[in-house]
Amino acid sequence: MARLSVQLGPLVLRNPVMSGSGTYGHGREMALMCPPRHLGAWVSKTVTLEPRPGNPMPRMAETEAGLLNSIGLENRGLEYYLSEILPSMRDLDTLVVTNIGAECVEDFGTLAARLDGEAAVDALEVNLSCPNVGGGRLPFSTDARMAAAAIGRVRAATKKPLFAKLSPNVSDIASIACAVEAAGADGITAVNTLLGMKVDWRSRRPALATVQGGYSGTGIKPVALRQAWMCCKAVKIPVIGCGGIASADDALEFMVVGCRAVQVGTSNFSDPSAIGNLAQAIEHALDQACIADLEQWIGSFDNPRALAGA
Ligand code: SIN
Repeated sequence: MARLSVQLGPLVLRNPVMSGSGTYGHGREMALMCPPRHLGAWVSKTVTLEPRPGNPMPRMAETEAGLLNSIGLENRGLEYYLSEILPSMRDLDTLVVTNIGAECVEDFGTLAARLDGEAAVDALEVNLSCPNVGGGRLPFSTDARMAAAAIGRVRAATKKPLFAKLSPNVSDIASIACAVEAAGADGITAVNTLLGMKVDWRSRRPALATVQGGYSGTGIKPVALRQAWMCCKAVKIPVIGCGGIASADDALEFMVVGCRAVQVGTSNFSDPSAIGNLAQAIEHALDQACIADLEQWIGSFDNPRALAGA
């Protein structure tokens, strides 16, 4: 049977399958749907310093090939996460990644410092890329200096492994990836949602109260795959692929181009138990292809343009 464990910066994951932030609660509550040991890591919903009510309803809308959301980082804030959520995560048989979000550099630093001493937290994922706050301006993921400032502040505040979650809503993701690598990130999650919108022409109303939101799911996979590949080529730190991944084939497409792990997000809303079977499906697919060790095979993408020196 194929070996599935992967090195992700300072972490070793038993398999490359992670949940995508915001699609699997904080983790513990999903244990009945998916035994934690079936995942490489569980990623929390974004935690902010203060509680946030989120954006006005409606804030989710289905599309032909995915989902629009404008949740607006609704969560109960750091104190609640520390006292009510983390204690129940200590004995989880998987790695716990806490996703943090903020609207200023200082708050990123404060969050990281407060989480640094928490044994239940194995790593931080820094959400630089939520499109649903600040009117979709994405200040931390469209400007390399701002991205580096946020990651630098988190790096200074914690020794925990830290991953920077980037936005696809940029023309040159490689420059942002290089900036967060230089600022001390141990890895990159590529990518968050694409800006999108939906309207009802009869009522002449938008589907989301905020009009625009983040688009995710099957429809974004080709865009996400390209952006993840661009990151893989640009940096030495590991890249976690994210965007429209639901099946073993999807996961292996991201891994052959260089991603060392994958996150499953939107498909959790249609079948929250499916993520628990994904590692086994990947193992089966590798066995069928006579690939014994996933780690050795990652990034073995045959790129004819590169071979031709183009
Ligand atoms: C949200 O809470 O608005 C979604 C989170 C994200 O896209 O980062």
